[in-house]
Amino acid sequence: MGYGYHPEWSEGSLKSPIFQTSTFAFSSAEEGKRFFAIAYGLVDATDEHSPGLIYSRINNPDLEILEDRMAMWENAEMGLAFASGMAAITTTLLSFLRPGDVVLHSCPLYGGTDHVVNHTLAEFGIAAVSFDSSLSKADIETKLDAEAPGRRLGLVYMETPANPTNDLIDIEMAASIAAAHTSDDHHPMVVVDNTFLGPLFQRPLEHGADIVLYSATKFLGGHSDLIAGIAVGSKAALKPVAAMRTFTGTMADAWTGWLLMRSLETLSLRMNRQAETAARVASFLKDHPKVIKVRYLGFLKAGDAQYELYKRQCSAAGAMISFEVEGGEEGAFRLLNSLSLVSLAVSLGGTESLAEHPYTMTHAGVDPDHKIATGVTPGLVRLSVGVEHPDDLIADLSHALQSV
Ligand SMILES: Cc1ncc(COP(=O)(O)O)c(C=O)c1O
Repeated sequence: MGYGYHPEWSEGSLKSPIFQTSTFAFSSAEEGKRFFAIAYGLVDATDEHSPGLIYSRINNPDLEILEDRMAMWENAEMGLAFASGMAAITTTLLSFLRPGDVVLHSCPLYGGTDHVVNHTLAEFGIAAVSFDSSLSKADIETKLDAEAPGRRLGLVYMETPANPTNDLIDIEMAASIAAAHTSDDHHPMVVVDNTFLGPLFQRPLEHGADIVLYSATKFLGGHSDLIAGIAVGSKAALKPVAAMRTFTGTMADAWTGWLLMRSLETLSLRMNRQAETAARVASFLKDHPKVIKVRYLGFLKAGDAQYELYKRQCSAAGAMISFEVEGGEEGAFRLLNSLSLVSLAVSLGGTESLAEHPYTMTHAGVDPDHKIATGVTPGLVRLSVGVEHPDDLIADLSHALQSV
């Protein structure tokens, strides 16, 4: 909890102060020159000449301590903090993709990411090819050849578990596709959005990912009171991303960095408790006559297509449940409009439980055929389980399901 900060640095303050400053004074012009040369990669840092604080778009103590702690959580060399999850995602994509490339991505994706990958990047001449959890490596290679012939594979992007279906993607398999497209002068980065399970229950870097991304707005922040993003990985992988962040200005601010440091102190307590409560809530939903299907990782069992992958890649089921109710959109809306303890709101991972309708809300902009094909149906409700008492949540859902 205290990693990367010492009270003697700040008048004994047990917690790091909020360094609410845009810029940092240099002790001499020579020092300023040296700090810039190191920050811009013109010279390497040495024992004698270490990097220094310059300007809060480039570096800030609250962000640096937070980034060191995130790197520690993931056993990574480096972390970077961003203004939002989307800022982390777009900055990473822009760092590696070039006009003419193709990005290979899992499907479904969070609606905002889907938009960037399938619409925004297309305007810059970057094609997108999708694959879902049912496809084998050979199927994906065939699809890539058929849909983007002759294009350089720029990057492989995965969201696992997928929002909102909880589908798992095999990171090792995806990394082996990137390896097959690696040459002396190009390696397609393997990027994983770990928002649903990490860093407690899934460590993509250990399965071959190069960069792990987060909407830190979710479990990392954990209190539905901030918007932020995180990237972690090796120094080599993140060097271009750090440069892109500096020049596009997509970093987080000091206050958000400080809030995230506070949040990380209870991350393990919150995520473990939320996962325990989610198991109780999922069991209740599974047996309910108005619920057609529950998408919850804890229900995977030996023999299911994704069970072996789940055991290999994840250490717990987390706190995200999607379930389909009878009556399609009308049934889902009746349920959502009848909840009282669970709030009807997008976002997830906070201390309070939230429910939403992916088909018309978070995934409103996704191609309807893609939605249906990947299980994002009009009757699907996404539930993020918080830290309330499980009996209270079950009572609320039980009451709301009566209206379906
Ligand atoms: C899985 C996932 N990734 C990324 C994002 C985008 O994060 P943010 O809203 O912090 O920009 C979200 C937001 O809902 C998400 O659910």
